[in-house]
Amino acid sequence: MNIEAIQQASQYITDKLSIKPQIGLILGSGLGILADEIDNPTKIKYEDIPGFPVSTVEGHAGQLVIGSLKGMQVLAMQGRFHYYEGYDLQEVTFPVRVMKQLGIETVIVTNAAGAVNPSFEPGNLMLITDHINHTGVDPLFGPNDPTLGVRFPDMTNAYTPALQQLARKAAAKLDLTIQEGVYVWNSGPSYETPAEIRMLQKLGGDAVGMSTVPEVIVARHAGMKVMGISCISNMAAGILDQPLSHEEVIETTERVKEQFLSLVKEIVANLAHQ
Ligand code: HPA
Repeated sequence: MNIEAIQQASQYITDKLSIKPQIGLILGSGLGILADEIDNPTKIKYEDIPGFPVSTVEGHAGQLVIGSLKGMQVLAMQGRFHYYEGYDLQEVTFPVRVMKQLGIETVIVTNAAGAVNPSFEPGNLMLITDHINHTGVDPLFGPNDPTLGVRFPDMTNAYTPALQQLARKAAAKLDLTIQEGVYVWNSGPSYETPAEIRMLQKLGGDAVGMSTVPEVIVARHAGMKVMGISCISNMAAGILDQPLSHEEVIETTERVKEQFLSLVKEIVANLAHQ
């Protein structure tokens, strides 16, 4: 990981800001609307930031939106980089390194995910309590720069327990029932087969998706606190007798966006009062 590139990107962003962001928000498929709630936003297109990869997928806008949300200064990624798009994991996780360089110590990572747990329903929100990296690749492959983090980072509490507690409290305050569980990262872009989903059920997965885990590994490597929230957009393959589609994923995230927005805003408000 090239420290100069991280510093350069961070400097470019800092020069455009009069505030110092405290929380990083990574917004998943269909969830980018959260960035529209940010007051006094400074918007910076990924393509304008030195060293940043450029987002290609439909439904991913590809810009940073920085400003205030519920009393906190936040930096939101409206659109993220996925491994399946062909970016290497250094590129996928570059924005997290830049967040750290900007002084951000807390990251909220969101995604759309398929339910592996048959008791979940599309439209549920799931607090991520742990993950399974089911890809065999890791963003920390290669030489380790000790100024960024340790060679073998502990992943025991990848999702900061105190932040999980805060998310539960926020959901309760809103009278919102949320699920909790283990997020499995598959590379995609093909969805899973029914046999793979039965396997993931046996392995202890509750939801499956194509993002989040690389960013979380790098955030933990960098010593940042992490919260993860999945929007369950569909039942994973084979659970219902129907095919999967990206349209369904987007439709579901659209349907539950108000709940998603109120939950994340309540969480951020609670972070402000900590
Ligand atoms: N599988 C993998 N990724 C996903 C899914 C799924 O069922 N739904 C949304 N992202």
